[in-house]
Amino acid sequence: MNIDLLLPIVEGIAVQAGIIASSHFASLQEELVTIKTDGSPLSAADLDVDAYISEQLRKQTDVSRILSEEGSEHQYLANGFCWIVDPIDGTRNFVQGDSSFAISIALVHDGIPILGVVHAPELQETYSAVLGGGANRNGAQIQVSACSDLTRAHIELDYGSHPLTVRFHAHVKQALLLAGSTTRNVGCASLQLAHVGCGVADAMIHRRLSAWDIAAGIVIAKEAGARIGNLDGGSKDLFAPGIVASTPEIFSLLTTITARELDAEHTST
Ligand code: IPD
Ligand code: CA
Ligand code: CA
Repeated sequence: MNIDLLLPIVEGIAVQAGIIASSHFASLQEELVTIKTDGSPLSAADLDVDAYISEQLRKQTDVSRILSEEGSEHQYLANGFCWIVDPIDGTRNFVQGDSSFAISIALVHDGIPILGVVHAPELQETYSAVLGGGANRNGAQIQVSACSDLTRAHIELDYGSHPLTVRFHAHVKQALLLAGSTTRNVGCASLQLAHVGCGVADAMIHRRLSAWDIAAGIVIAKEAGARIGNLDGGSKDLFAPGIVASTPEIFSLLTTITARELDAEHTST
């Protein structure tokens, strides 16, 4: 399979999916929004975009296995090729009229993300990468910032919604602020990884994400020079819930904080 040839196809699908998302976004007052069992919102746009992407990936590519947040097949097979899709990452932002949401599509091979596209239609930003080929934003090459210490580092860290995440993020935020860093809640994990890739942020940290939140962003951030790992500093397992992505220089400073917080969490539960 030639993944370089696949990239423009996937970018095209993401851009068209973005047009569908934007048409819903333009008439948010009429948008049907329900609440999922985990308490998170589900909009009609999530479902429309998901249906479009699944149909097009199957029509335009040879890989028919798709793991999507809103899809019916939630069984991920670790071997071979599989698409991992988040039709709208940042649905809370979307339903509140905040433009920070993105379509995230990744190709994964044997559990490793090898192609990623993150498209934010309202921000007019398309990030893409294939393993070994560098990363781009709107066609121009990107790279991580030169940040090398935590004083003045700019770190994207959501508030979280699950109680475990809220507590973990609050403690990590306190440690980061004491070290001199600033933090920002973006509410769209795929964009946060892209932000690390292009130097808008020096790092992103999250306690609890799913593979569809991060698969595409991982390829983009990694290809732009980021170091990515689990919260204990070990190499990133796509299906482990926690993630730290940062410039290589501050990675172990950050994972010292996250590993300590993880230990404290385990001791208290
Ligand atoms: C959410 C976003 C958010 C993160 C949440 C995710 P969704 O994805 O990525 O940044 O903090 O944990 O669930 O539900 O909007 O696709
Ligand atoms: Ca998501
Ligand atoms: Ca989603």
